[in-house]
Amino acid sequence: MIEVHDLKKTYRDRTVLDLPALSLAQGETLALAGANGSGKTTLLRLLAGTLKPTAGTVKTAKPLLYLPQKSYAFRGTVLQNVLLGTQGKKQQAMELLEKLELLPFADKKASSLSGGELQRLSVCRLLIRPCNLLLLDEPTSACDPQSATLVLQALEAYRKETGCTLVLSTHTPRVALEAAGRLLILRDGKPEADGAPQALLQSPDSDWLRAFIAGWRI
Ligand SMILES: Nc1ncnc2c1ncn2[C@@H]1O[C@H](COP(=O)(O)OP(=O)(O)O)[C@@H](O)[C@H]1O
Ligand SMILES: [Mg+2]
Repeated sequence: MIEVHDLKKTYRDRTVLDLPALSLAQGETLALAGANGSGKTTLLRLLAGTLKPTAGTVKTAKPLLYLPQKSYAFRGTVLQNVLLGTQGKKQQAMELLEKLELLPFADKKASSLSGGELQRLSVCRLLIRPCNLLLLDEPTSACDPQSATLVLQALEAYRKETGCTLVLSTHTPRVALEAAGRLLILRDGKPEADGAPQALLQSPDSDWLRAFIAGWRI
């Protein structure tokens, strides 16, 4: 669940996010799109509570989990990374690693992973815990198409199991189409389009939207 009203984030005199309203029911899925600097990360961080709004209110379901845009590894092995802070859910950790094709790396140093592997590990670290709101900042940005499929499948399984609300940002139309029932496109921090991903992609109703979608990575 998410309820946002008159949300603004301003740095000095520049407003980088201006969202009059956003409402998501429990279990709804939302993809965020928009050019670099359009406010996707700012919105996700405001929802996650790691950034304070300049104005407005944010109400969200708890507990929430947030995947930052930049992946990172803790010290130790891949398996130890997934188990951090979970009281020994080894079986579940191994299953998640298998789902994301990281099982062969379980005993390797997490710091030795490639960018795409590290991103999948970051996803595993989140999905080992239940939550009511999952916030993901470009969760497949470092993944090749096959790895992106693994992430999308793991997210879908997690969502079915927990009934969580999901918000993710992406530059990939396929991710929006497969992972979300709703797509919000930001332009200079403001909502430019909001609707079913398929409908927005197939029949953009403005020149700006047509140009934006034409430039989207396939
Ligand atoms: N701490 C900050 N100080 C000033 N400007 C910032 C700060 N953080 C983000 N911004 C600006 O806010 C805008 C939106 O950034 P961001 O939400 O990261 O965009 P996106 O994730 O869509 O690429 C960008 O122009 C960025 O430069
Ligand atoms: Mg961003």
